[in-house]
Amino acid sequence: MSEPKVLVFICNGCSYGGADQAGGVKLEYPPGVRMAKVMCSGRVDPQMVLDAFSFGMDGVLILGCHPGDCHYREGNYSALKRAKLLAPMLEQYGIHPDRFRIDWVRAGEGERFSRLVTEMVEAVVTLEPPEIEKPFEAHP
Ligand code: FES
Repeated sequence: MSEPKVLVFICNGCSYGGADQAGGVKLEYPPGVRMAKVMCSGRVDPQMVLDAFSFGMDGVLILGCHPGDCHYREGNYSALKRAKLLAPMLEQYGIHPDRFRIDWVRAGEGERFSRLVTEMVEAVVTLEPPEIEKPFEAHP
């Protein structure tokens, strides 16, 4: 498998700070990681995850503030609830559940950020390529 592509949604509240700190101290993570900043992990709609796979991502990771720390109070709880509903749906589309995760990163947790994205890439690299038959249309 070529370098796996993993899309990481990072919230503007805390996890962006973690990613920024990782970059600031030059922590390394795999080159296939792509980041999309959202205001809150609760902003990540399931369709956005499906679209990411549809556009060829090998994995999707949502990173939000730790429980209790969301800048929009409960956005990360909403994201977690949606993630739990989405995971079995992905399987129906032939996407292994290990290709999708949600986790939490604080602004000062650059090492945690680096570790989580690296673990995600390592998890997808061991999986068979998904057999996605364009089950969902991307937004035009
Ligand atoms: Fe970070 Fe809501 S602002 S999860």
